[in-house]
Amino acid sequence: MESALTARDRVGVQDFVLLENHTSEAAFIENLRKRFKENLIYTYIGSVLVSVNPYKDLEIYTKNHMERYRGINFYEVSPHIYAVSDNSYRSMRTERKDQCILISGESGAGKTEASKKILQYYAVTCPASDQVETVKDRLLQSNPVLEAFGNAKTLRNDNSSRFGKYMDIQFDFKGAPVGGHILNYLLEKSRVVHQNHGERNFHIFYQLIEGGEEDLLRRLGLERNPQQYQYLVKGNCPKVSSINDRSDWKVVRKALSVIGFSEDEVEELLNIIASVLHLGNIQYGGEDSGNAYITTDTQIKYLARLLGVDGLVLKEALTHKKIIAKGEELKSPLNLEQASSARDALSKAVYGRTFTWLVNKINVSLAYKNASVIGLLDIYGFEVFQHNSFEQFCINYCNEKLQQLFIELTLKSEQDEYEAEGITWEPVQYFNNKIICDLVEEKFKGIISILDEECLRPGDASDITFLEKLENTVGGHAHLTTHKLTDGKTRKVMGREEFRLLHYAGEVNYNVNGFLDKNNDLLFRNLKEVMCMSDNKILTQCFDRAELKDSRRPETAATQFKTSLAKLMEILMSKEPSYVRCIKPNDAKQAGRFDEVLIRHQVKYLGLMENLRVRRAGFAYRRHYETFLQRYKSLCPETWPSWQGKLADGVSTLVKHLGYKPEEYKLGRSKIFIRFPKTLFATEDALETRKHSLGERESHVSHAVVVQAWWKGILACRRARRRREAANTIRRFIKGFIYRHNERCPENEYFLDYVRYSFLMKLRRNLPKTVLDKSWPTPPTALIEASERLRKLYMQNMVWGYCKKINPEWKHQLEQKMVASEIFKNKKDNYPQSVPKLFVGTRLNGEEINPKVLQSLGSEKMKYAVPVTKYDRKGYKARPRQLLLTSNSAVIVEEAKLKQRIDYAALKGISVSSLSDGVFVLHVPTEDKKQKGDVVLQSDHIIETLTKVAICADKVNSININQGSITFTMGQGREGIIDFTSGSELLVAKAKNGHLSVVSRNNGGI
Ligand SMILES: Nc1ncnc2c1ncn2[C@@H]1O[C@H](COP(=O)(O)OP(=O)(O)O)[C@@H](O)[C@H]1O
Ligand SMILES: [Mg+2]
Repeated sequence: MESALTARDRVGVQDFVLLENHTSEAAFIENLRKRFKENLIYTYIGSVLVSVNPYKDLEIYTKNHMERYRGINFYEVSPHIYAVSDNSYRSMRTERKDQCILISGESGAGKTEASKKILQYYAVTCPASDQVETVKDRLLQSNPVLEAFGNAKTLRNDNSSRFGKYMDIQFDFKGAPVGGHILNYLLEKSRVVHQNHGERNFHIFYQLIEGGEEDLLRRLGLERNPQQYQYLVKGNCPKVSSINDRSDWKVVRKALSVIGFSEDEVEELLNIIASVLHLGNIQYGGEDSGNAYITTDTQIKYLARLLGVDGLVLKEALTHKKIIAKGEELKSPLNLEQASSARDALSKAVYGRTFTWLVNKINVSLAYKNASVIGLLDIYGFEVFQHNSFEQFCINYCNEKLQQLFIELTLKSEQDEYEAEGITWEPVQYFNNKIICDLVEEKFKGIISILDEECLRPGDASDITFLEKLENTVGGHAHLTTHKLTDGKTRKVMGREEFRLLHYAGEVNYNVNGFLDKNNDLLFRNLKEVMCMSDNKILTQCFDRAELKDSRRPETAATQFKTSLAKLMEILMSKEPSYVRCIKPNDAKQAGRFDEVLIRHQVKYLGLMENLRVRRAGFAYRRHYETFLQRYKSLCPETWPSWQGKLADGVSTLVKHLGYKPEEYKLGRSKIFIRFPKTLFATEDALETRKHSLGERESHVSHAVVVQAWWKGILACRRARRRREAANTIRRFIKGFIYRHNERCPENEYFLDYVRYSFLMKLRRNLPKTVLDKSWPTPPTALIEASERLRKLYMQNMVWGYCKKINPEWKHQLEQKMVASEIFKNKKDNYPQSVPKLFVGTRLNGEEINPKVLQSLGSEKMKYAVPVTKYDRKGYKARPRQLLLTSNSAVIVEEAKLKQRIDYAALKGISVSSLSDGVFVLHVPTEDKKQKGDVVLQSDHIIETLTKVAICADKVNSININQGSITFTMGQGREGIIDFTSGSELLVAKAKNGHLSVVSRNNGGI
């Protein structure tokens, strides 16, 4: 944009906010004219794009142009519809907010073309895949279909859309267009049965007649001559030079199949279109006041076949009216006028509903869920004709609502920007048109309510009584007047049957004639019944039998429109809007003609001056510090050739040097705001002068700049590549996560490899350190088996390493510990305490054993000795003894005396309790006279002692661990019993019952 500032004398300003005299309509139009002459059809008002229809093909929509606007800042290049498209697309992608682009303007101003250009821009520039290609095709092909059925040649536009259209383009997370949804508004159904002079019916009728194959026409009972059809001759304009119906027919047929219409569906659709033409050719006989009858039976025959209904029933329904009064059905014949209007009502209803069906069908083929959205609204702009009727009333009401939305959202975004930049918000004076919206739509006292009331009330309501009611109810409103209520001067330019609304964009007179009928939009019950019986699959969807049962009156046209508008506003409110305002330069559809009167009229009715006022209320120009400094730094010695400090300080230094006065600008957080265009222009002129004087030096500098730019470019490329790679990695990761439970496939390959790698890395850091450490990281599903194998291998390896380090002494220790574990593990309470304590070779060394004893043992090798307590058989007295284990026997010693020797061969068994005491019994055979019965001993190292006994005597399997008590022999056949209990203190004593009672502590001796 800045680059064009210098040429502003010739090509005007690219943004109307830079007009010095922003309140002057003449200056506004002059700027438009300058640009139009230079084929510059686009100009901004801030972020609003004003577009003037060039009526010729300009070379500005090529693929190169699309590329030029991709990812570029709004202001860096000249205004273009692609800039708006790209800006919305990028906001949707980066801010994750749904967008909408509102296109308005009067008929022929270029709205539909603009919306097509936007759609094409997305189709070409957005990422795509095969599946997306299909959707893109469907999105693009929905246009010719909707235009065939919803557009017509009018005086203003050879391809005028006769319905409002809101289309959502849906994008997936990659930014590819993947679906769409269309809402249609207020199809001009009256065109089906009547066209003004010089206008045509909807294109499809002519396309079918001109392009349809012979076969097809024969089946439909049609002739290849539009003049034959009453519904096509009203405007006396069957052919238009700019339209080729035959080739358009081919385009539409192809588009229908791209969208997914089956051959049968196309056939049924065309049956309906042909039926409408046949309906139009039905003629009636009968006197004016008498009953009407049908004189054209051929039509009925075709209709019966094409619609799949009974001819007689249809015939009757077209000439009679069925009323249900007090539960009884009455049939009354229609007169000529009533019968023709019943027929027309049927044609309109059939066509209108089929159109809605068509839109729904397209929606089904474009359906997609969970997407980001850019909405395109291509809707009639303000309409002011010589005679304005119900349709203009609805259309203009719609524009009031859109203006409301515009004001609210623009003011809000201005306010938000000021706030973000830390600049105080100064209230803007503007006209709030809510008062007009209320006048039209308010419950009970709004114009629509009053109209509905007249439509519904019994008695002889008419368009005139509606007008009177308006006068009585809202006659005093500042924005409404009528012929009767107004002053003499206005009365001269108003008809008696008109009311005038003072819209935000200007005054419009509405003629009330036909308001009630159009609002009622009634179709006689028996005609509805016939349609419900149709065999045509499309019609059965359009005319639902449930509708017949519903005795409530259908909603009026105005109320339906009001409701759908309210919904539309809700949709638009939830999105971030951009605006395209289209202007038609002349009525002759001619290139290069700038009709000032016509344009002034549109500037007014589009509310452009009001737009500009709101936008210019604060500051004319705002730019990021970086952009501003970059452009103007050569104007100040301190900022030239480069500024090293903070950007804000650089700009501040620069503007002070330039002599900006405090009221002329403000510095925000990231932008400079300049209040008047003249300030900016002065700076711009200074730059021009400076450029000349810099000329010489600049050529040197420019070399340096080139090198610098190259280097910067390389760095930027590298950065961009890194960013792109990072984004790709993240994308692949997310996709892989979604597909993680699937078999290995291209989508999850990366993710699964990553998971494997990261598990192995984690494992490496967290391997168990000792053989006893059983911890192991939890593997991902894909690695469970591998992890298990690794764990086993690693354990084996560790055990192997461990074993290699064991010495004979330690081996011996472990072997003993193994035996102990075999005997006592989970069987005796004090076993666990023994585990960490090492077994010793002996508890008594040579000096502690009497030499006499050693002498008497002779050559027998001593293997282990331990002090024990012996409980004698009489009274269980405790005696200190020593237990010695030799290679052949266990010996009990009292000081120097060898008291008892038990050969291992004679040792029958060993008993011990399961508790934590240290008492044990060595059982000997009773018949052995040498022995004096079993020996009851106690050792403080019970586990060690008994393990040694078990090993020396090879009696590992002869140790009995008992619960409760042990029975033993005392000699001479007597038996003794030891009872084991647990308590707080160790106690071994004779109990009253004569048993030896052993109370063991939980942490008793070992
Ligand atoms: N940007 C444009 N470039 C060239 N011709 C255009 C452009 N916009 C509109 N036209 C011409 O004007 C005609 C009417 O435009 P259209 O978009 O149908 O108007 P609207 O939808 O506003 O009624 C188009 O058929 C086309 O011939
Ligand atoms: Mg249009």
